Amino acid sequence: MKIRIFDTTLRDGEQTPGVALTPEQKLGIAEKLDALGVDAIEAGFPIISDGEMQGIKLICNANFRAEICGLARTDKKDIDAAVSAGLKYIHTFIATSDIHLKYKLKLTRDQALAKAIEAVEYGKSLGLQVEFSAEDATRTDREFLKKVFKEVANAGADRIDIPDTVGYSTPGYIAEITKDAIEASHLPISVHCHNDFGLAVANAISAIQVGAQCAHVTINGIGERAGNASLEELVMALQCLQFDKKYETNIDTKLLYETSRYVSSIVGIHVQPNKAIVGENAFGHESGIHTHGVLSNPLTYEPISPEIVGRTRWFQVGKHAGAHGVSAMLEEYGIQPTREQTHEILERVKKLGDQGKHVTDVELLSITGEVMQTQGLKRLVHLTGFSVSTGMGNMPYAFVKLNIEGKDFIGTDYGVGPVDASINAIQKITGEIAKVRIKDYKLDSIAGGSDALCEVTIKVEDAYGNLASAKSVGEDIVITSVQAMIDGINRIMLKKILKQKNLGK
Ligand code: KIV
Ligand code: ZN
Repeated sequence: MKIRIFDTTLRDGEQTPGVALTPEQKLGIAEKLDALGVDAIEAGFPIISDGEMQGIKLICNANFRAEICGLARTDKKDIDAAVSAGLKYIHTFIATSDIHLKYKLKLTRDQALAKAIEAVEYGKSLGLQVEFSAEDATRTDREFLKKVFKEVANAGADRIDIPDTVGYSTPGYIAEITKDAIEASHLPISVHCHNDFGLAVANAISAIQVGAQCAHVTINGIGERAGNASLEELVMALQCLQFDKKYETNIDTKLLYETSRYVSSIVGIHVQPNKAIVGENAFGHESGIHTHGVLSNPLTYEPISPEIVGRTRWFQVGKHAGAHGVSAMLEEYGIQPTREQTHEILERVKKLGDQGKHVTDVELLSITGEVMQTQGLKRLVHLTGFSVSTGMGNMPYAFVKLNIEGKDFIGTDYGVGPVDASINAIQKITGEIAKVRIKDYKLDSIAGGSDALCEVTIKVEDAYGNLASAKSVGEDIVITSVQAMIDGINRIMLKKILKQKNLGK
């Protein structure tokens, strides 16, 4: 059965505390959502501001494959604003729970019902597609909720949505009221689940199992308070878990990670590392037992292959590591220690772990160099020219010349400071050549006064999800940052080339 994905990243997602998008940013996200394959995009709440209106207009004019919807209270002025924005599809809502009626709206149940009917009729008289939401449905008197759904269906609504506004429902209860809604309205039912108790996706699935045809979701689960049901979790659960029926969506799952990253960078909300599907650790393995299992057959400790969602599996060593994990990580850089050397490297890694230290590939490679008494890794990228200008009144500007596998490249860029300008200039080159972008940048000063040494740690990622870290120590922050960045790029390119070679074997 095909489940309709109604994405509300640009409406409920934008209601995340601290998030505000420009019209152009909204359009950029809508483009990604359309490419991802969502069926409907809730582009915003047209009445709230001029910028919101402008963003929705841009999205309406973009000729997307997805249907474009806008939010409206059950007020004529909200619905008129939606029409002015160019929308042909509205999501109109009014609260129906006694707590909202008494303290927020100061309306009786009958008055709220009358407003709901009037709004649906008005929307239909304007030729709009109308989806009606009974806000706080899951805390609404069950008989009254059924009555509301029945009457708005009679008034001509095209779809009914069941919002679990404060994430208060259990999977069992939302299933019951979904059945009520189907019986009372005979319309397609959507569910809109919030995550206050971490049950948003479970609740959405439960409603779908009893006949809801659509779920309102957001990328990375962003939204009011604890957020909404996350698109990536719901889609992958529907596609991969065992249910009585087979569920499908129109989502191109290979684009999930890329879309998650894009939205996270635009809205400025980090994805927690242990988040399912799109969190950094979702396909990372540290402990020796797990690494050994995954290297023998990834299905031992991975429920799905990372490639399905556009990701790459990675290993990290630490105090739980085993010889298999260490060998696998070093193999990514083309390094093959002997058995004895591997054990010595492992011992040293465990010692660092016991001291509470985080062992990245930087530490692993340096330990390996010592144990194997070898020079550093093969370098594919060389810095052959560099200058940066900064000062009061001028935007810092950097010039970078790189030689990548024998070819020269030049990059120039501005930045908020000299480090930013230099990194931007490097990324201009490597973004095109190797699709490498910076994921983390950390600057520490190593005791002392103005002549103190600085330590720069950089984590880079390529378009295939390969990660590499690099660390550099020096006196000059800009040069040290550039060196760390070049080292990171070298490592990630080496990993990619070796991986391609291994695949070709
Ligand atoms: O959570 C909610 O109730 C909403 C409504 C606007 C439908 O987002
Ligand atoms: Zn909501």
